[in-house]
Amino acid sequence: MDTSFTKQETYIQEFNSKDYLETYYSAEKGVLKGEWLNFALRKLHETFTPGAVEGDTLIDIGAGPTIYHLLSACEVFKNIITSDFLAHNRAEVQKWLKKDPDAFDWSPVAKYVCELEGDSENWKEKEGTLRRTVKQVLKCDVLKRNPFEPEVLPPADCILSCLCLEVACKDIQSLCNTLKHFHDLIKPGGHLIVLSSLNCSFYYVGQKCFYCMAITKEGLELAFKGAGYEIEKLEVLPREHRSALNISDSDSYYFVHARKPHNL
Ligand SMILES: C[S@@+](CC[C@H](N)C(=O)[O-])C[C@H]1O[C@@H](n2cnc3c(N)ncnc32)[C@H](O)[C@@H]1O
Repeated sequence: MDTSFTKQETYIQEFNSKDYLETYYSAEKGVLKGEWLNFALRKLHETFTPGAVEGDTLIDIGAGPTIYHLLSACEVFKNIITSDFLAHNRAEVQKWLKKDPDAFDWSPVAKYVCELEGDSENWKEKEGTLRRTVKQVLKCDVLKRNPFEPEVLPPADCILSCLCLEVACKDIQSLCNTLKHFHDLIKPGGHLIVLSSLNCSFYYVGQKCFYCMAITKEGLELAFKGAGYEIEKLEVLPREHRSALNISDSDSYYFVHARKPHNL
């Protein structure tokens, strides 16, 4: 399908947070609840363990209306700053943080992460830990030189971003520029963790089709290296369940753990 680049104005008017959560993460029929969530949560569990990637502050970019990707990080960071471009996505996150009865139910996902950690009974405590660790939910625009403008954030130990950069960036050059925008947000030697889809050209939210940059593994490596990062790990999981290709046409998921060199 040939989907042209989605303008920011279209995101503001047509990205429906509730439809997104229902389509991709509902416990019954969420398109991402199988392979994607298992892959992403396992990689994040392996990454955010004491002695591996940990520290004072993690900045999360493009969370949408979700929190699933922070459930491991909240055990090894003191502060999490999460963010998204859209006010209504940030409002959904705030609802979950405040235990609003209308908030999305992430408890099946929290239980799964607790199983990975070896204590499946611990999910309520984990949700409490995450609620305490998220200190800010900020507006961000990764296309800006300072994505948090006008706020200037001190450099963090780690930046995390899931399923965001390929929808915000039109092409590899734009992705490379965006990764460069993150330099000032990461301490020297700090971590950049990105998880997303390969070869995905569109995704639906409700009836609306949104653009995604179809990037290959080689393109991804070019963008990270071109932006000056050292790639520590790059893993790809081919998508086996091809049943929802009319909703999103990715052929695999990827995980990148990169580092900002000390001299950058
Ligand atoms: C496919 S959703 C991913 C949401 C969530 N991270 C997840 O894993 O399900 C893409 C997100 O990118 C955000 N986005 C689009 N353009 C952006 C930009 N220029 N800067 C930051 N976020 C952007 C959208 O608001 C949306 O929440």
